Amino acid sequence: MIVLKSPEELSCMRLACQAAAEVLAEVALLVAPGRKTRELDEAAAEMMRKRGGRSAFLGYRGYKGQICVSVNEEVVHGLAGERRIQYGDIVSLDVGIVLGGFVGDNATTVAVGMIKFETQRLLDVTERALYAGIAAARAGNRVEDISRAVQQAVETAKFGVVREFVGHGVGRKLHEDPQIPNFVEQRGRGRKSEMLRAGMTLAIEPMTTQGRPDVEVRSDGWTVVTKDGLPSAHFEHTVAVTDGEPEILTCRKTMPSAAKA
Ligand code: MF3
Ligand code: CO
Repeated sequence: MIVLKSPEELSCMRLACQAAAEVLAEVALLVAPGRKTRELDEAAAEMMRKRGGRSAFLGYRGYKGQICVSVNEEVVHGLAGERRIQYGDIVSLDVGIVLGGFVGDNATTVAVGMIKFETQRLLDVTERALYAGIAAARAGNRVEDISRAVQQAVETAKFGVVREFVGHGVGRKLHEDPQIPNFVEQRGRGRKSEMLRAGMTLAIEPMTTQGRPDVEVRSDGWTVVTKDGLPSAHFEHTVAVTDGEPEILTCRKTMPSAAKA
């Protein structure tokens, strides 16, 4: 069942999503060689608390992190720990906040210094794929129009799209209907996906791979990694479907302050 948000509920979503965007930007400032991923996780907890929110991930199905920190071959759900970030890494940060009863969910992948050309291209293509998906999030379109836009942007660039994890509706709960895959099923198979309507709030989140799209879960039970060990990227926004242009609720409206972070 898809929950449509009233204008009042959308205002609440905006606040939660703005907080999520600010925290994501501030955590991104902390990404530096020598830092342990655990330090980012701990700092994020304080940033969320300061804004009157808390992690939407902590405790979700037993998840033990405040945020997700996924380095290089780690795709998503990276559980922070003792791993030290190194020069040349890429680091995916996923921040979900509950504030005022609503969830804001967003992610980005940052480069640590100079990275390989092909990996930088992966980041650029994945972010562009996210915006292609967002552009398709219009009333009257279907979920599969988002999926197709993302997939085309990624695959024409010769990168892989992860099949096992998908975007989702988001609101009072982190995961609501509909699911938003980053690929479309073969033509003619399955029934048509859900029609998009004004008031839907969606987390669109392409997860991509530089090599093969096959992934597996590490023995920690959470961290998703590429089977071939090649890098992976992840970008995510929470978006509201409107009668006109899609509204990017997690669009950052303020500069992150290094002092605050
Ligand atoms: N942004 C991810 C998602 O919406 C993060 C979930 S992490 C989890 O699925 F730990 F909460 F599962
Ligand atoms: Co999400």
